[in-house]
Amino acid sequence: MFVNTTKLLLALCSLPLVSAASVYADRAELASVTINNGPVWYDTTGGTIQAHGGSIIKVDSTYYWIGEDKLHDSATFRNVVCYSSSDLKNWKWVSYPLKPSSHTELASSKIERPKVIYNQTTGKYVMWMHYENATDYSLGRVAVASSNSVCGSYTYHGSFRPLGYESRDMTVFKDEDGSAYLMSASNSGTGTNGSLASFKLTNDYLNVSTFIGWVAKDGHREAPAIARQGGRYFLITSGASGWYPNQAKYMTATSMNGPWSAAQNLGNSSTFYSQSNFILPVQGTSATTYIYMGDRWNSSRLGDSRYIWLPLTLNGANGTAALEWRSRWNIDAVTGAVSYPNLVNHALGRAATASSSASGFAASRANDGNYQAEWKASGVTWPSWWQVDLGATRNIQEVDISWFLYNGSEAYHQYRIEYSTNGTAWTTIDRTTNKTYGFTTDAVNFNARYVRIVLVNAVLWNNPNNWYTPILYEVQLLGG
Ligand code: DGJ
Repeated sequence: MFVNTTKLLLALCSLPLVSAASVYADRAELASVTINNGPVWYDTTGGTIQAHGGSIIKVDSTYYWIGEDKLHDSATFRNVVCYSSSDLKNWKWVSYPLKPSSHTELASSKIERPKVIYNQTTGKYVMWMHYENATDYSLGRVAVASSNSVCGSYTYHGSFRPLGYESRDMTVFKDEDGSAYLMSASNSGTGTNGSLASFKLTNDYLNVSTFIGWVAKDGHREAPAIARQGGRYFLITSGASGWYPNQAKYMTATSMNGPWSAAQNLGNSSTFYSQSNFILPVQGTSATTYIYMGDRWNSSRLGDSRYIWLPLTLNGANGTAALEWRSRWNIDAVTGAVSYPNLVNHALGRAATASSSASGFAASRANDGNYQAEWKASGVTWPSWWQVDLGATRNIQEVDISWFLYNGSEAYHQYRIEYSTNGTAWTTIDRTTNKTYGFTTDAVNFNARYVRIVLVNAVLWNNPNNWYTPILYEVQLLGG
């Protein structure tokens, strides 16, 4: 589905003459921008982008990113912010479509996950949000606002429980026929956020008309995001672990009325340290690319929460979805084409060993290309190590590690990366100061044949004792 513009350019370069097609491809390449996952993202005037939990809507050829302002490092409502961009990289601050002063109900509140859809019939942009009071999450309501322009001042229509159902993390999805839907984390009788509730919206999108049914019943799924590809609907959700990351899952259906398939894992154990938020279809002139938009929440400094955008492979024909980590990747917002830096995972399938291995959890499982298969030490022994022989000396530029996470006892890992050309003399990169949960990506530059990951300690947020067994789901050693 993705057009690899690097390959395309290489193919065109091998043509004997400079053709019109290659000139066009060069132009397309020039228009592509690089998405950098991990660093802070700034707007065009140098402010940090505050569009957490948000969504993107395209109007004519401009993209508008509308999300939560968390500059005050608090979960309480500060503003909904609207930015605009023509290339999905350079974002210009436009306005605050909704402010605490927009309505008395908003003065002291929480507004999360604002999603905007356009109603063709009324000519209104309609914003749906998760609404709570400022102190806790007990209200479980949605809120609705509307405006004549996408970044305009929205009229607040109030907060409510749709048809009486509790509603927390939510999304709205507008289908090709103009029908629109609300999907939200609700309570089917077995507890808060136990099941997702699915609703059809009224024709003006200002309310719900019908309760369609329960989705992922008792699955405790949050953070829903929906897209349609090849006649199939894809629903991505996170697990429920507060601001901590966890394993995303996806479900599919051939109708928004369901039934939805069983949930399948998407990406790695921490969704590359992110929580699903929105799926942006970039319908370009040569390809439609789906962008997974995730939030990398920083609970102690919410305004410094980062955005993780990754190309999402949706295959409607066979109902599968896939998500891979990319520290950097390129997208052309006009053509929809995606390209990647020329990096190879030198660890993949190479001979691996470890300080110990539990039965059935061999070292080779940490470099088998499968995020769901893990190497596990034979006991709770810290430090433990895992090592790979790359077969020859390779240049390594990035070390990506998928760690074990247990919901409710999430941990960050303190570790060392050790490398050697001969297996005798070793150099150490000390990462024992790491505080990133679930997934680490280290930019490095070394030449080595042997690479060892020493798992020094796991620091559990809720427990001074580390009861974890050393586990690695996947180690990727990327280089040219
Ligand atoms: C998880 C939700 O997905 C977030 O939007 C936010 O509500 C946090 N919980 C708050 O703990």
